[in-house]
Amino acid sequence: MRYLSRLSRNVLSIPVILRFLHSREIGGAYGIGARKKLGLLVRFWRNTRRVETLSDVREHMELAAAILRVPPSVKGDVVECGCYVGGSSVNLSLACAMVGRRLLICDSFEGLPEPEEHDREHLAVHVGHVDTYYKGRFAASLGLVKSNLERYGNLEVCDFRVGFFDKTMAGLDRDVVMAFLDVDLIDSLKPCLRGIWPRLAQGCRVYVHEARNIPLVALFFDASWWRQTLGQDAPGFVGSGVGLPLAVATHWGSELGYAQKAAAPEIAAAPSAPTAASAARPGVEPAPLEQPQPAGG
Ligand SMILES: C[S@@+](CC[C@H](N)C(=O)[O-])C[C@H]1O[C@@H](n2cnc3c(N)ncnc32)[C@H](O)[C@@H]1O
Repeated sequence: MRYLSRLSRNVLSIPVILRFLHSREIGGAYGIGARKKLGLLVRFWRNTRRVETLSDVREHMELAAAILRVPPSVKGDVVECGCYVGGSSVNLSLACAMVGRRLLICDSFEGLPEPEEHDREHLAVHVGHVDTYYKGRFAASLGLVKSNLERYGNLEVCDFRVGFFDKTMAGLDRDVVMAFLDVDLIDSLKPCLRGIWPRLAQGCRVYVHEARNIPLVALFFDASWWRQTLGQDAPGFVGSGVGLPLAVATHWGSELGYAQKAAAPEIAAAPSAPTAASAARPGVEPAPLEQPQPAGG
């Protein structure tokens, strides 16, 4: 029965995979075609069997698509907040190596901080699943993450920020073209957004792995938090409550969703619409991207 459900899951993912392989938007600007992307996916799939990961290979494919879509002219790095043993990091590092970008991996490397009451249990309403969080959950050492990257990914493109996000993400000093936040807690998400969003290029995305958690996703619709903290309107969140349509398990969906900086290219291109990033860095022109679609969209 488990074999059948895994088989049907893989078969039903074929359209999503074909779109990744054949879309020229994904990697075309780097000369990366279907054959190289297939090679990347095979490595992703193998790695998810070698290194424990709390995310899914289709989600890694969506993240890779987001990296490969950013034109080479847009400068910036990829950031991962929350790596555990490095299962998602190894695959992100391979995608970064393909396009010559650096991957900044941020984690306490001692697991979750002590959660406040509102972060101790999160209900994923649509699948009826409750996650419980406590201090030290998902602890894994920096040495283990590095050795997994060395064996299965590309350690050379990686930099590390060690410590809790309220300290390490303040005043992030690099431009960002894609971020993957897999940090479980609302109180962990906030410092990551405060640090990353102002440095995110126009039209680029912050992906979050807690798409099914309504109270956490609600932050992306909290107009007063965004206005006060980041000086702009709330961006909303694609995939709220259900996740991007990447796979079928108990339902179509995933645990992954995203917020995009500037909703549409015409907004990104509008010179009269300064953003927190351009305001924070006077003289830096927003670089509009083509309007990207989720790999499974
Ligand atoms: C669910 S795990 C990440 C799983 C990984 N992305 C994967 O796909 O296998 C969450 C990670 O977030 C880290 N984390 C959560 N809150 C944190 C905080 N406030 N500061 C630093 N690290 C934090 C934990 O240490 C843990 O490694």
